Amino acid sequence: MNNPLLEELLYTVRDPTTTAPIFRFALERIGEHLGFEIAKDLVTQEQRITTSLGQTATHSLLKEELTLVTVLRAGIPLYNGLLKAFPKAESGFVGAMRNEETLNATISYIALPDIKNKIIILADTMIATGGSIVDTIKLLDMHAPKKIIVAGAFVAPEGVAKIKEYDKNIRVYAAQIDCLLNEKGYILPGLGDAGDRCYGRKV
Ligand code: PRP
Ligand code: URA
Repeated sequence: MNNPLLEELLYTVRDPTTTAPIFRFALERIGEHLGFEIAKDLVTQEQRITTSLGQTATHSLLKEELTLVTVLRAGIPLYNGLLKAFPKAESGFVGAMRNEETLNATISYIALPDIKNKIIILADTMIATGGSIVDTIKLLDMHAPKKIIVAGAFVAPEGVAKIKEYDKNIRVYAAQIDCLLNEKGYILPGLGDAGDRCYGRKV
């Protein structure tokens, strides 16, 4: 995505002096930008409306119902922004925690509506090794959705490769594709630990 307003937001979250409230606010705005970008590729249908002046106008409205799913914790502000873009969408939450040694994710919490035949937008702020997002996609696939679209704020090429290796048809929208991962699985240049920067350090 190429937009100076979005660049300002990416700059803000990269800045280590940005406080948690501003960090969350900027991520939310990034989520809205992602939503507007995704909406351009969704199926629409023409809808006519007669105004109070007795005139008719036609608009292309989204045709299908959407479900927004996010990965706790760091995905929450991005999800909030996407929900602003798609206020009629249903919501689902998955709790995934990455083991800092093995970099493997463990899913420990699942709260989903009925997603059979639904279009899912799966949001996570950081897609690094891709382990958390692919485990979540596998979980969603067990419920037979029509389509899964992935939305990430900061995405590493390794994460995209892992998603495409699992299913090459999954579309990935990234506000920023970063360069690489370090040996601890952090995205570089990145922004650090997104969950901690949003909500404080875990003990
Ligand atoms: C972060 C982020 C992703 C995951 C990405 O979560 O929200 O879910 O790391 O890494 P991966 O692509 O290598 O799996 P984290 O496990 O740090 O938990 P948190 O959001 O609760 O802080
Ligand atoms: N999770 C984060 O919070 N940051 C990274 O850079 C990678 C995974």
